[in-house]
Amino acid sequence: MSKIRIGVIFGGKSGEHEVSLMSATSVIRAIDPEKFQVVMLGITRQGQWLLYEGPLEALIPGEWQAKAEEDLRKDPAHFSLCILGQGPNTLSDRIDFALPILHGPNGEDGTVQGLLELLNIPYGGCGVLGAATAMDKVVAKKIFEHEGLRQAPCITFNAGELEQGTDWILDRVKTELGYPVFVKPSNMGSSVGISKVTEPAGLPEALWTAAAYDERLIIEKGIHCRELETAVLGNYELTLGAVGEILPAAEYYDYKSKYFDAASKICIPADIPSEKKQELQDMAARAYLALGCQGYARVDFLMDRDTMELYINEINAIPGFTHASMFPLLCMDIGMTYPEIIERIVELGYERYHVKNKGDDRHPSR
Ligand SMILES: Nc1ncnc2c1ncn2[C@@H]1O[C@H](COP(=O)(O)OP(=O)(O)O)[C@@H](O)[C@H]1O
Ligand SMILES: [Mg+2]
Repeated sequence: MSKIRIGVIFGGKSGEHEVSLMSATSVIRAIDPEKFQVVMLGITRQGQWLLYEGPLEALIPGEWQAKAEEDLRKDPAHFSLCILGQGPNTLSDRIDFALPILHGPNGEDGTVQGLLELLNIPYGGCGVLGAATAMDKVVAKKIFEHEGLRQAPCITFNAGELEQGTDWILDRVKTELGYPVFVKPSNMGSSVGISKVTEPAGLPEALWTAAAYDERLIIEKGIHCRELETAVLGNYELTLGAVGEILPAAEYYDYKSKYFDAASKICIPADIPSEKKQELQDMAARAYLALGCQGYARVDFLMDRDTMELYINEINAIPGFTHASMFPLLCMDIGMTYPEIIERIVELGYERYHVKNKGDDRHPSR
């Protein structure tokens, strides 16, 4: 039987381009070469897809791109890659299965998933619906609310409404939320565009910052909290990972403390009572199914330090995937190895594909 050719898609047109390179490096290194053949598919910051066949070490420093472009110039017949369509050198011709390891917009949000659906290529992780709903904080909040899941009180509105000035927002924050608040763009990730605001004077700047990233904005009541996360694997029957706690080096878990500050720590399992752990995992499973997630995701919570009440914060459809990242560590804590997590994601991708395309089969083993 020929090996399954897994196309690992990395980089991307997103503020989290570098983070994707880190995640993809770990994932590619862990894919069992006895079972799978890795095809590296890099997306540049401009959105160009490039086939890359150089050393893995060149991903993180970004050198892969120059090498891929040079190879393409030297040998267009081999290195050109047609994303859409059928026939030689198309994505469908080059890979059997896709594993998008892309964070943020244009990859974690259902766009790449939609492309793979159209191409009839099975893929790992959430489908279009789960990825899109999880990526959009405003939509996710509405679904969580409908599901009766507790979340931080918030105000949502369109960036266009800022044209009328910010006084009306200051009034609403004062009466409905109080300070501190977190101002967020609806559609980002990795804390990009998010500000913590402790007094009214800081609000306008935070609003403009968030508005630079998205049309729709959220102002959320700041919870004096601990940050807890769990991993979910599955399409319909779910496996829950351990519960972990983030101990951010900064005042909150901003972009820098997430990826570049060694003082940010992860504690697994989180030091919380077993009933809390159970409650969190139940909420995570409900939230995952409510958003239509499949494959895998990381579900994040805020826990009030005084009352210990749990608030669902968000679902990450393609969470950080380095060896030091929370998602794989939570799965490893329940007994899986890092390569087993990837294999399970591939299996779940094929399982979903078969349910959706009964009879129309690309699995080389069948
Ligand atoms: N309502 C809140 N109360 C307290 N801290 C928050 C709140 N919302 C966000 N944060 C802090 O900001 C970080 C980033 O916010 P989050 O909503 O998770 O966005 P992202 O999608 O960018 O990860 C969180 O990890 C947490 O540290
Ligand atoms: Mg987050």
